[in-house]
Amino acid sequence: MAGALGAQWVRAGHEVLVGARDRDKAVRRAADIGPGARAGGLREAAAFGEATLLAVAYEGVADVLGQVGDVLRGRTVIDCMNGIVHPDVTLATGTGPSVARRVADATGAHVVKAFNLCPDAMWRMTPPQVDGRPLTVPVCGDDSGALATVRTLIDDLGCVPAVAGGLDRAGVLEATAAYVIGLHITGIDPRSALPSLS
Ligand SMILES: NC(=O)c1ccc[n+]([C@@H]2O[C@H](COP(=O)([O-])OP(=O)(O)OC[C@H]3O[C@@H](n4cnc5c(N)ncnc54)[C@H](OP(=O)(O)O)[C@@H]3O)[C@@H](O)[C@H]2O)c1
Repeated sequence: MAGALGAQWVRAGHEVLVGARDRDKAVRRAADIGPGARAGGLREAAAFGEATLLAVAYEGVADVLGQVGDVLRGRTVIDCMNGIVHPDVTLATGTGPSVARRVADATGAHVVKAFNLCPDAMWRMTPPQVDGRPLTVPVCGDDSGALATVRTLIDDLGCVPAVAGGLDRAGVLEATAAYVIGLHITGIDPRSALPSLS
């Protein structure tokens, strides 16, 4: 996800700094993204620029947040994560708070849930489209400044941002991802199960 979205944002003229627990992997990922991207440590990446994309396997997020400490407090954090337990495709968060809420509580960041509904292959399309139409990207968040930043980053992909509610609605996006992934795994095109309501 970091490579896919990072490449889009570099293409749109943004600077990107990739952080990872393994410095060599961050260097490789930044090289894959191309000129405009560089590598750093986790804390450096967390503090860089106007927004931080948190693209970590759910089981590693507590560790990563522990390493970046309070750097994220008050910053815009984009949470694209899904905590999915296989093979049943259930939510790792169970009936508790969403991943996004946990990140917000742990960091004090202005968290915006976004980009969690589509596979990385979709985010590599220029522009991402469904049946020739621009992709709509639902976002959930509470902070107007953070939402404005993320809306701009979605515009930069050639997608259409759609505010789907406050951060309390992020769990709906996470459950939707589990539903869609579950259909995909059983060989069903999720779009065939999400018809227009009009
Ligand atoms: N790929 C998709 O199509 C897609 C779509 C929507 C949402 N997402 C979500 O986006 C997030 C990133 O997915 P991805 O596909 O980009 O995954 P990825 O390429 O496998 O990257 C996951 C990252 O998490 C790190 N990580 C894993 N376990 C860790 C731990 N215990 N401590 C610290 N770091 C750890 C990995 O570091 P190492 O390399 O050092 O292990 C790696 O940098 C996930 O939450 C996923 O559910 C993915």
